[in-house]
Amino acid sequence: MPPLSRSANLELALYAAGAAVAQVRAGRSLSEALSGPEADSNLGAAVQDLAYGALRNLGLLDAILAELLHKPVKPAVHALLLAALYQLRARPQTSHTTVDQAVRAVARFEPAAKGLANAVLRNYLREADALVARCNSDTAHYSYPQWWIDRVRAAWPQQWESVLNAGNLHPPMTLRVNRRRLTPEQYLAKLGERGLAGEHLGAQAILLERPLPIESVPGFAAGEVSIQDAGAQLAAPLLDVRPGMRVLDACAAPGGKAGHILELADCALTALDIDPARVPRISDNLARLGFSARVVSGDCASPAGWSDGGRFERILLDAPCTASGVVKRHPDIKWLRRDSDIPRLATSQGRMLDALWQLLAPGGKLLYATCSVFPQENAQTVTSFLARCDGARRLPLAEPEGGQLLPDARHDGFFYALLEKQ
Ligand SMILES: C[S@@+](CC[C@H](N)C(=O)[O-])C[C@H]1O[C@@H](n2cnc3c(N)ncnc32)[C@H](O)[C@@H]1O
Repeated sequence: MPPLSRSANLELALYAAGAAVAQVRAGRSLSEALSGPEADSNLGAAVQDLAYGALRNLGLLDAILAELLHKPVKPAVHALLLAALYQLRARPQTSHTTVDQAVRAVARFEPAAKGLANAVLRNYLREADALVARCNSDTAHYSYPQWWIDRVRAAWPQQWESVLNAGNLHPPMTLRVNRRRLTPEQYLAKLGERGLAGEHLGAQAILLERPLPIESVPGFAAGEVSIQDAGAQLAAPLLDVRPGMRVLDACAAPGGKAGHILELADCALTALDIDPARVPRISDNLARLGFSARVVSGDCASPAGWSDGGRFERILLDAPCTASGVVKRHPDIKWLRRDSDIPRLATSQGRMLDALWQLLAPGGKLLYATCSVFPQENAQTVTSFLARCDGARRLPLAEPEGGQLLPDARHDGFFYALLEKQ
């Protein structure tokens, strides 16, 4: 097959991004939609840019498209037009190529829709400013569902807009330096030797000046660094693990925090996850860092299935949650979650806390963590647990204040509560 011209690449990238966005709208995660057999690895970066961009800005793009379309179109055509609108807004200097290629891509889905696609995109170019001015709902303005905006506004009356806006930024790439191998200063020098730059964010986190493909990150394969958001790097130090302790990482896959725990102390770690398909990733990550642990598949809320009956001196419960604090990296989450997920998740988080508390040794500590900004699955889950559990005490944390790290340009959003068994 002859090499594709640049514009032919755009046609295929728009087609693939439209297909991925349509799958997300049908309920599939974006990472699954982009990794299916139909994904074209030659176009990977371009398709990702279009699909992520369309989903980050979906509230506005949807509203613009509703103004331009006067009759329903097939979901795949609709999604492709969203990707094309994103491209027109992100790269206005190539607008004519975009329209031409988007119309060709639409024809791959539905030849009869070519004329409509052409009219819609040209009308957008003619009236862009007036159209955007008419899209004045909260969802169009912030690009989140209304229920999500309402919840963030109610929870964080001072910071709600910055929380929403942070979730629509491009994520930074942050490394965790394996302090068993080298210091952050030594790693920064190593980056400098390769013409790369980063910023030391505190403890072991280094924010890269520019994201890199994983295979180009110096020392990654050798276990000198891992890729982990700076907010996620707060977890392992809070757990205060000492050498020789029995430690449980109850929701461990893919093993980011498990690796960090072992970097900080030689402990007897059990790394558990309910998803057998994700469990091998824990072992792979630990092996890359030169560590081993007891890696098990099981449900942390039903210890009979995997526990040997021994108590743990430290437990990390990195609980499944809405992931509302990490939408910079996963913009599909904004559109896949439902308001009703929050009470459902809070109930299962409470069940996990109850079950794991029984496995904690007297005097031991359990760190409850989520990557959410919704108090219902954070402070409220912990407050309800403390109300029904005698002998549990919440310890104050120096950082983050009140346990909640709100997302900004440099890190994602996380919640931490450290509980001690008296
Ligand atoms: C937030 S992720 C964990 C990330 C991990 N701690 C890290 O730092 O790499 C949540 C994990 O919980 C797992 N999980 C969900 N329900 C579980 C359960 N009942 N028992 C154990 N693991 C569970 C999921 O499969 C998922 O891998």
